Amino acid sequence: MLPTCILGPVKMLLWFLVLSALALEADAVPTFVSRKEWGARPQTCSPPLAAPVPYLIMDQVLGVECGEQSICSERLRDLQSHSIYTKHWCDMAYNFLVGDDGRVYEGVGWDVQGVHTQGYNNVSLGLAFFGNKLGSDPSPAALSAAEDLIFYAIQRGHLSPKYIQPLILNEEVCIAPHLSEMPRKACPSIITRSTWEARETHCPTMKTPAQYVIIIHTVGTHCYVSMDCQLYVRDLQSYQIDSQNFCDISYHFLVGEDGGIYEGVGWNSQGSHTYGFNDIALGIAFMGNFMENPPNAAALEAAQNLIQCAVDQGHLVPDYLLVGHRDVIDTLSPGQALYDIIKMWPHYQP
Ligand SMILES: *[C@@H]1O[C@H](CO)[C@@H](O)[C@H](O)[C@H]1NC(C)=O
Repeated sequence: MLPTCILGPVKMLLWFLVLSALALEADAVPTFVSRKEWGARPQTCSPPLAAPVPYLIMDQVLGVECGEQSICSERLRDLQSHSIYTKHWCDMAYNFLVGDDGRVYEGVGWDVQGVHTQGYNNVSLGLAFFGNKLGSDPSPAALSAAEDLIFYAIQRGHLSPKYIQPLILNEEVCIAPHLSEMPRKACPSIITRSTWEARETHCPTMKTPAQYVIIIHTVGTHCYVSMDCQLYVRDLQSYQIDSQNFCDISYHFLVGEDGGIYEGVGWNSQGSHTYGFNDIALGIAFMGNFMENPPNAAALEAAQNLIQCAVDQGHLVPDYLLVGHRDVIDTLSPGQALYDIIKMWPHYQP
């Protein structure tokens, strides 16, 4: 018999604070163990969960001690059987379970409702720590994994960046602190205009903070090492000034598949990327053509970090809207494959 218990709000608050502190240096993707890997039974019913959800619920499952993947997997199989055969639930109660071994085990996953908290199941992600000794706190590895998981959930659009973590007592909300900011990462380092040897120009000033982010592709060459990216940015600037009569390179920032962010006109000048939006939107261009294939993970992550950094540093309003280039003007940019990805990002507005 494996009881699942919910701890009191005081302890939850403690973890919440620990997580907020750890969040300052989040950047790792958590190590996931899929249902297949831990040997789950197939899902029998799967009420869909619409992303991004506004709430995050954190619990702890007690009485399930384990410290390595094979044992934790066995415990989860027992727990799943208990949920299905004793509790008569569809499946696992939680969306994800964070093991004391620092791994994140898939419960019902991102797209299916859990059965962890009455009234919140269809609007929250339920995460639970498990695997630690009765009465003890989750391990540092588990806390760190939970924090990576939350950051990952926000980045991938599963959880609202303004998520609320209600404290639940007796199935009721007793306090609902607003988490105004998402876990913060350091801003990515930006390859400056002087580094890539930009020509001096004087473009109109941007109205900051910007209200929109527009995702664009350059349709030009792909670059995978910084030297190539710098060369490409330099050529593009000359082409856009000399042949297209733009004031400067037309984008605020460019993203390479070397994972680098290249300063275009930067935060404070207007770009020339989207007629009607140049004074209020940050134009971020991925270097390459992304009709068939999306940019690599390094580029996607760099762009998302840049957007978060823009909010953190006050260059972009926190409730900004993110659009694809083709959403606002007649173009194929940013390419179908990239467009399909950004539609899942936070703040996307068709
Ligand atoms: C969640 O469930 C409640 C109660 O069944 C319902 O009123 C509410 O509209 C649902 N919310 C969503 C986002 O599905």
